Amino acid sequence: CIGVFEVVKFHTKRHRASKMRVLLTGGTGYIGSHTAIALLEQNHDVLLFDNLSNSQRHTVDRIRHITGKQAPFVQGDIRNTDLLTQTLRDFQADAVIHFAGLKAVGESVEQPIAYYANNVQGTISLLQAMQQCCVYKLMFSSSATVYGKPQYLPLDEAHPTSATNPYGRTKLHIEEMLQDLAASDACWKIICLRYFNPLGAHASGLLGERPNGIPNNLMPYIAQVAAGSLPFVQVFGNDYPTPDGTGVRDFIHVCDLAEGHAAALPFLHAQNGWHAINLGTGKGTSVLELIKAFAEANEIDVPYRIMPRRPGDVDACFASPAKAHNILGWKAQRDIQEMCKSAWLWQTMQG
Ligand code: NAD
Ligand code: UD1
Repeated sequence: CIGVFEVVKFHTKRHRASKMRVLLTGGTGYIGSHTAIALLEQNHDVLLFDNLSNSQRHTVDRIRHITGKQAPFVQGDIRNTDLLTQTLRDFQADAVIHFAGLKAVGESVEQPIAYYANNVQGTISLLQAMQQCCVYKLMFSSSATVYGKPQYLPLDEAHPTSATNPYGRTKLHIEEMLQDLAASDACWKIICLRYFNPLGAHASGLLGERPNGIPNNLMPYIAQVAAGSLPFVQVFGNDYPTPDGTGVRDFIHVCDLAEGHAAALPFLHAQNGWHAINLGTGKGTSVLELIKAFAEANEIDVPYRIMPRRPGDVDACFASPAKAHNILGWKAQRDIQEMCKSAWLWQTMQG
């Protein structure tokens, strides 16, 4: 934690932070591509590094189309330390935002080695490359999953951490590894951004989330039901101790999340050590509320059926976004309606 005095000091410097050269691992993915736009719009230079295992090359052209700026793209795996080192050197990177990784909870239970190899081994490779090039500023895509089962709400960054599945454990291992690294060498400046539930798409309809096969997450599932590709939304449980009995989450528009990264760059530049910061709205919305909001916002039918609870789910999970607000001067701006409209536009543009 940084003290009040340091925060005040940081605030006075915040707006003077200069243009940075930022390498985005996983830069053509869902959150990476939206963040690339937010950074380019703030005049930073961006390089996209991705192995395209869960994204497509045309995203690079779409980012150019939206921003009018060409971000260089390197196709490669983060476990290729030599390629990363070369890319960091050639690009003369000041900082890295590390999105690359696998993210499906169910798959991580079936294929834990793939998750540890991609996420943990991949991060070690990235850190080795950064160290070789003396690039010491790193922002890492962490998740609210590191809080495990909430012991109190809203979740602040001081909440104890734990993991209930291999995906969550990779996030926790990486966070702990990054803390050790920051403690070992004062050069390192590291922020773990703990995302809550990102939803929605870019307002152009050109970028969004493209799940493989049948979606696991709620919003892509709703969008596919609305499109007629799936018959109804399965609502996993209506007997939770929540106002309508269904699960409650902190849904955040992906463009707000992207802007959170841009807001965190000056802090990354200015502060040493390791910091964890929540990116959420602070507002809980239930599964039924989201389904109804989607139907209303898009004037479309979204049939649903109540099903048994999904194993491993918690009843409610939402953030305290106070630290992000106090330290980064960032607050989510977009509401559930905008999340639902943009998700539907993206769905309909897929054809
Ligand atoms: P995504 O799958 O859309 O993006 C990840 C990108 O990383 C993809 O483009 C993929 O091709 C690339 N990638 C994967 N392994 C790689 C490797 N070994 N080398 C190079 N590139 C590789 O996922 P996303 O939703 O954009 O998530 C980005 C990050 O945020 C992930 O680390 C994820 O765990 C984390 N996160 C996501 C959510 C969410 O709900 N989407 C929530 C919390 C945390
Ligand atoms: C899940 C992951 C979390 C990950 C996050 C973003 C689990 C246990 N957690 O969070 O680690 O960071 O995705 O990728 O998988 N729901 C339905 N019907 C559906 C889908 C979901 O009712 O078809 C409900 C769920 O029960 C939950 C809510 O919708 O109450 C949100 O689910 P989901 O979108 O999968 O996100 P999380 O479970 O919060």
